[in-house]
Amino acid sequence: MELCVSGLSKSYGGKAALQGVNLTLRPGVYGLLGPNGAGKSTLINIIVGNLTPDAGEVLYDGRNTAALGKTFRGMVGFMPQQQGLYDTFTGYRFLAYIASLKGMPRARAARDIADALRWVNLEDQADKKLGAYSGGMKQRILIAQAVLNQPKILILDEPTAGLDPKERIRVRNMISGIAAEKIVVLATHVVSDVEQIGKEVILLKKGVVLGQAEPRQFMDALHGKVFTFSVAPEALPEVEARYLVSNVVYQAGRLLVRVVSDRPPDVPHSPADPTLEDVYLSRFADEIQAETPAGGGDPG
Ligand SMILES: Nc1ncnc2c1ncn2[C@@H]1O[C@H](COP(=O)(O)OP(=O)(O)OP(=O)(O)O)[C@@H](O)[C@H]1O
Ligand SMILES: [Mg+2]
Repeated sequence: MELCVSGLSKSYGGKAALQGVNLTLRPGVYGLLGPNGAGKSTLINIIVGNLTPDAGEVLYDGRNTAALGKTFRGMVGFMPQQQGLYDTFTGYRFLAYIASLKGMPRARAARDIADALRWVNLEDQADKKLGAYSGGMKQRILIAQAVLNQPKILILDEPTAGLDPKERIRVRNMISGIAAEKIVVLATHVVSDVEQIGKEVILLKKGVVLGQAEPRQFMDALHGKVFTFSVAPEALPEVEARYLVSNVVYQAGRLLVRVVSDRPPDVPHSPADPTLEDVYLSRFADEIQAETPAGGGDPG
């Protein structure tokens, strides 16, 4: 099973959102990582067939997915980034409604709905109205609808958005648990979402793929370029002006600064093992300086 994205471009009113994107995806979890506006949702919406590209195509085992039409759509489970939930529907009714949209036979739907509810741990909440669900429960029921019909391809756009750390880990584990034999694409701007469960990470920036590789490969490429050193708090602005700062930890009146730098700092320092967070920072520094002040860590 192979999903190929070939030469995809898309503009909105003359502004390019995707510029010649090429990807090859096989079973496993792919983390589509990029800052706000990188083009993640645009790419995903083209893959699932909700959006038509200006150029390029998506191929499933060598066949154009637009031409495959319904056959392809039937294999795809999709969780959009923005989704109106039917607040007056109960969880069960919502899933039954989606199952009917997917054209699932009744008996099959009943079985899959029960499985999905169990999987996202919402069995006890199935008769509650969606309007009364917490944010985490809403995200989970949306993931549940995406897996109805046991899709071979699962596309999730920011599935952990707005979740607390506990729910985030839970959703992450759910995704990695279901990923076997499936192509899973998980779009996010949160590194920790994909660093453990991603078979490969795809870095997308301004509509261009900067790289597609195993997290380890991206981290190895930064080997020898990550350092920590201690400074007085008042020296932080100067450090930030000189270095790409990936983290700052307050430590007994001083600051332990973590930087990504081609050359070792000219102050006493220790080498550090690169993390995917360092990779993200070094590749997207110009875009996230304003978004995440130093000391941020996990922005979610
Ligand atoms: N319907 C639209 N009309 C006009 N411009 C759009 C539309 N959808 C997206 N864009 C623009 O295309 C670019 C890519 O947007 P997209 O939503 O694909 O990014 P993203 O990576 O999903 O961002 P986010 O992390 O915020 O979800 C952005 O510049 C965005 O403003
Ligand atoms: Mg998006």
